Amino acid sequence: MKQSNTPEPFTVAVIGLGYVGLPLALEFARAGCRVLGLDIDASKTRQLQEGHCYLQQVDASGLKDLVKQGLFRPSTDFKCLRQAQAVAICVPTPVTEAREPDLSYIVETSRTVSRYLERGQLVVLESTTYPGTTEEAVLPLLEESGLQCPVNAASDGPAPDFFLAFSPERVDPGNKKIQLREIPKIVGGVNPASTERARQLYQRVFDTVIPVSSARVAEMSKLLENIYRSVNIALVNELKLICQRMDIDIWEVIEAAATKPFGFTPFYPGPGLGGHCIPIDPFYLAWKVRQYDMTTRFIELAGEINTAMPYHIVQAVADALNTRGQALKGARILVLGVAYKKDVDDTRESPALKIMQLLQERGAEIAYNDPHVPQPGRTRRYDFSHLKSVPLNEENLKSFDCVVLVTDHSAYDMAEIVRHAPLVIDTRNATRGIDCASTKVVRC
Ligand SMILES: NC(=O)c1ccc[n+]([C@@H]2O[C@H](COP(=O)([O-])OP(=O)(O)OC[C@H]3O[C@@H](n4cnc5c(N)ncnc54)[C@H](O)[C@@H]3O)[C@@H](O)[C@H]2O)c1
Repeated sequence: MKQSNTPEPFTVAVIGLGYVGLPLALEFARAGCRVLGLDIDASKTRQLQEGHCYLQQVDASGLKDLVKQGLFRPSTDFKCLRQAQAVAICVPTPVTEAREPDLSYIVETSRTVSRYLERGQLVVLESTTYPGTTEEAVLPLLEESGLQCPVNAASDGPAPDFFLAFSPERVDPGNKKIQLREIPKIVGGVNPASTERARQLYQRVFDTVIPVSSARVAEMSKLLENIYRSVNIALVNELKLICQRMDIDIWEVIEAAATKPFGFTPFYPGPGLGGHCIPIDPFYLAWKVRQYDMTTRFIELAGEINTAMPYHIVQAVADALNTRGQALKGARILVLGVAYKKDVDDTRESPALKIMQLLQERGAEIAYNDPHVPQPGRTRRYDFSHLKSVPLNEENLKSFDCVVLVTDHSAYDMAEIVRHAPLVIDTRNATRGIDCASTKVVRC
């Protein structure tokens, strides 16, 4: 038989096909790599095999064709890992009830990768975690395979049996302005050879790859980004409360300060932190540094302030109803937006769920609308499986005592909402520019 001279496509396995892994897998496939998309959730891999994308804000263009051409192979069969030249791990890294790192997903995945590890393979951890995880938790599990990847091995020494690196994921779900490949990709290996392999891998899809000196630097850089956001959001949330007491409009203050062409980045107050990253990741570092007899005061303080924000919103609802001679107990309240941020369908750690729970505990009758979340369902902490998004129309808006805007989805016509609702609590400054009585709209 005549041999073909066409080289086999580069094969990369992506483990965990969620908000991080799925867009990455599709990006590799679009770049011509053969992608093995692995997940333990068979319903996800089945939907992808059928060309259906279960995440609204992921660019799934060409998904059907990529599957048909064999460039994207969603599967729950991890044996195929043997075929991959590179493996990217994108599994969850939650915290426990005690806000301690839950590395169980990383550990389980590392064990699976170890079982099928091949000489020369590159393994990259993308899940956000504390500095040291790649070397201290992943490496020993991979080395149980019998293959070795010595930490800090000199680049002119013998090649490691396999390569291991960390590369933080910086995707911003719902952001239509910046494409995934435009976000510079940081890579740090446990040794220089691993950094170089990781650089070569991501160069296939990212415009800019930034090698750093170690996996620990790469791990810490991601935490710095998220802690920076958490602390600055907490700062502005605290200033909001101060401004409210002093009868100053915080939004106008930020707008004025943001005209400074250097040295100031605006952050905005809100109903509390949400999503899988900013409310969680800082606590990975807080936990780790306790092993070094240190505390992370900024992280703890920011956590304290941000965690209190849903309570302030609920108090603002109660106060606003009170000025109208109404009690929170028995009031009918419509929450707008339960996703944790604008134009996404992700409700993880969403402050809306906390606000709904607190309102319910104080005797209010709750309904919600979210064009991206038909049902909030049940999570580890909340059970709203009895609720469905109610239609947003004039009749409904008029029938509630109060509307609380928690997430300012683009689909919301704020002028219409203000026109028909008897009382609006605006946690996002979404009613700016709309002419309305201060007794009808409370910005908080
Ligand atoms: N969501 C974001 O915006 C974002 C941004 C940057 C970084 N991150 C980080 O990326 C990581 C993944 O987050 P995500 O938002 O994609 O989570 P996700 O929950 O959306 O996706 C994780 C996927 O992993 C799968 N999974 C769980 N255990 C598995 C296992 N043992 N083997 C294979 N698959 C498994 C789940 O079924 C799920 O499909 C986290 O560490 C997170 O902190 C997330």
